Amino acid sequence: MSTPSVLFVCLGNICRSPMAEGAFRAAAAKAGLTVETDSCGTAAYHVGEPPDGRAIATAAKHGVDISDLRGRQLTASDFSRFTHIFAMDHENLSNIQRVAPADASAHVGLLLDLVLGRSGQPVSDPYYGDEAEFQTTWKDVSVAAGALVAKLSR
Ligand code: 4NP
Repeated sequence: MSTPSVLFVCLGNICRSPMAEGAFRAAAAKAGLTVETDSCGTAAYHVGEPPDGRAIATAAKHGVDISDLRGRQLTASDFSRFTHIFAMDHENLSNIQRVAPADASAHVGLLLDLVLGRSGQPVSDPYYGDEAEFQTTWKDVSVAAGALVAKLSR
């Protein structure tokens, strides 16, 4: 199989999707699975910015450094560059589908659809929350990252 390439998408690309990228990168490395991965936002609010400090701190608590990531916005070329594109919530998913070119080859889906019993659920958005909400988000993206590594390893 060719190397899977996975793009994680949220609104601002400073909280949920960089955490998902970090969790997936770590889970794949642990499993010895070679992957390419990136994250982006549907909006351009935080282009060029590092992840939110609370997201960086939460990932670091779990041994994952996401401080070098920088925000960017989803583009039409992402649909041929990546094999899989995962939205954190339904609003992200509809915005992704709006940008998708007619010849898009990437599989597009909701991230928690990968997790048994969590299908159709959004990853918790911690942006307006506190530290506990960032922990909940980390849990959500980690369980999905594990499920995705298992799926891609089969
Ligand atoms: P994210 O969180 O989509 O998980 O990165 C947000 C980041 C920024 C904003 C909203 C959500 N914002 O409104 O600027």
